[in-house]
Amino acid sequence: MKFFGEENFITEIVWQRTFATKNDSKYFSTEHEYILLYAKSISGLTINLLERGEKQNIRYQNPDNDERGPWTSTDLLRMEHRDNSVYTIVSPNGKEWTPQSGTSWRHPEKEMLELIANNEVTFGSDGNAKPRRKRFLSEVKQGIIPQTIWKHDEVSHTQEAKQSLNKLFDGVPVFSTPKPIKLIKKMLQISTAKESNDFIVDFFAGSAATAEAVMEQNKEDGGNRKYILVQLPELCDPESEAFKVDYKTIADISKERIVRAIKKIEKEIKGNKNLLNENENKNP
Ligand SMILES: C[S@@+](CC[C@H](N)C(=O)[O-])C[C@H]1O[C@@H](n2cnc3c(N)ncnc32)[C@H](O)[C@@H]1O
Repeated sequence: MKFFGEENFITEIVWQRTFATKNDSKYFSTEHEYILLYAKSISGLTINLLERGEKQNIRYQNPDNDERGPWTSTDLLRMEHRDNSVYTIVSPNGKEWTPQSGTSWRHPEKEMLELIANNEVTFGSDGNAKPRRKRFLSEVKQGIIPQTIWKHDEVSHTQEAKQSLNKLFDGVPVFSTPKPIKLIKKMLQISTAKESNDFIVDFFAGSAATAEAVMEQNKEDGGNRKYILVQLPELCDPESEAFKVDYKTIADISKERIVRAIKKIEKEIKGNKNLLNENENKNP
């Protein structure tokens, strides 16, 4: 069995790495990069669903206080004629709805009447709107399948990655091409499970963003992922800010990033615990 290689190719992801338009570009201002996804072995591969966020759930509301919780609505008409699914539905306030020629309801009449009786069909706030099927949030897949376009408002951009790295290094711009933590975290979310003891290997560590992302992800979901990072002792440019503050090689930067990220995350965990204790003392 072959590992990685083209037979284990999964997909190509487009990451919108910047929001700024480069007006001095010759023809187009490139704002994306590609992430090529290969499995070690595609047989038996699982890609995790992503957690549903506010963005996905915002469409679900509960205007009629349905005890089954928030819902959204979907079309009950089909763009195709079916003999057994053309009939008239009378809305609660008396309006009659009949499919136009070439269309039909998605359910035969008996099924539709059951749905209506079960309050699974909405006729809008005035009880006269075109009937639509209620779809409850509690019934949808508890996760979303990853998509291939990753926008910066979700996984961040290079500018933010540089800024947060600078902040970690007390304002010194030590590395010019770090990846955002959010971007790497999304990769971890789809490919590793918190229950696993997975190792994440990054052979081109650079500023060691991968290490920080793994630790952040573990902090968030209590996971136990581990990382192995490799970085050549490539010399920093003697004119660079990094060199001036004594990081002679890229590997020096990688190692220091890990130390600083650990301290930052430990501080955050301690802060969260203190907050929890304070709240418990306030509301015993
Ligand atoms: C663009 S950086 C990686 C950035 C990193 N993902 C981050 O977020 O900071 C690529 C790194 O790979 C290293 N590198 C380049 N060619 C390499 C090779 N053939 N073997 C090992 N490392 C290499 C370089 O030293 C450089 O630090």
